[in-house]
Amino acid sequence: MKTIQVDPGRPDPAAIQQAAALLRAGGLVAFPTETVYGLGANALDPEAVARIYAAKRRPSYNPLIVHVPDAAAAQALAADWPAHAAACAAAFWPGPLTLVVAKHARVPDAVTAGLSRVALRVPAHPVAQALLRAAELPVAAPSANRSSELSPTLARHVEKSLEAAVDLILDAGPASVGIESTVIDLSGSAPILLRPGSIPQMALERVLGPVSLPGSAGKPGEARPSPGMLDRHYAPRAELRLFTPCGVLDVRPDYTVGALLLTTQVMAQFPVRMPADPDGYAQRLYAELHRLDDAGCDLILVERVADTPEWAGVRDRLERAARRG
Ligand code: TXA
Ligand code: MG
Repeated sequence: MKTIQVDPGRPDPAAIQQAAALLRAGGLVAFPTETVYGLGANALDPEAVARIYAAKRRPSYNPLIVHVPDAAAAQALAADWPAHAAACAAAFWPGPLTLVVAKHARVPDAVTAGLSRVALRVPAHPVAQALLRAAELPVAAPSANRSSELSPTLARHVEKSLEAAVDLILDAGPASVGIESTVIDLSGSAPILLRPGSIPQMALERVLGPVSLPGSAGKPGEARPSPGMLDRHYAPRAELRLFTPCGVLDVRPDYTVGALLLTTQVMAQFPVRMPADPDGYAQRLYAELHRLDDAGCDLILVERVADTPEWAGVRDRLERAARRG
């Protein structure tokens, strides 16, 4: 069996040792984090890292996040550890936050897609923590899905997308946060929020002072762009269309339609009432989109969420998923 079930709070040490040994041998291990499942490989081994790009069919210009068990291990991979990084680490790690800082020479270019900066994260999930400590290696891990497709919040989603390419999947049940980590670039004079997540901007600003936004789409020509954030992303197989209640919905009559709804109703074979709070919504978002895809939907209608800061993470994922091409 390639998938091993582990207790999310107290994972079986034998399973963790098996996964750690695979990582040390250059293999690919899918493991749970509190955000989404990651596809892990030894970040210091360019061949293992190349296997991640091949498995995901990820464009080589899109760098990977390196996962470590604590802030000291993160600092060891940075050429420079600014006061802002120390402050963020103290306030938010372990947790769903990724920091981009100048990279240490020991981080291979394969991980950063040739950039001089590296993205670092200390996940809180006990299984991720146990694995990182047992492997005694920094672990490069993008979300464990084919590039541009839906991220996995269940081991089953990983099996569906990548099973053939993965040496082992650790199944610890559903991810609690449900959308990818907040990514903040601290490598320049002012912090830039590259990817909104579950940590509200205001919480970041309490620690960092003003944080600038590149805009949810990531504008080309920005000073320090994040190469992977310009593309369509997080998309189901079905067409995803955002709508505002009271607007006119023009839907082909032969379409099988799913819908993620908050306040309104639409004609759909698979309507889903979503939680009205951003954390609850985020936790269920990918699982519902996977389910609607699996049900054979051609079109998924998604009621727009509020244009407020608390919804920024969810809004970003929905807008990217709705983008064509
Ligand atoms: O929650 C998460 O962050 C999950 C779990 C597994 O930790 N990982 C994840 O990885 O979402 P991925 O590869 O799907 O997204 C990483 C994002 C990409 O948009 C990439 O462009 C950005 O982080 N990134 C990585 N390294 C970067 C760097 N050196 N500079 C700027 N952006 C970077
Ligand atoms: Mg991803």
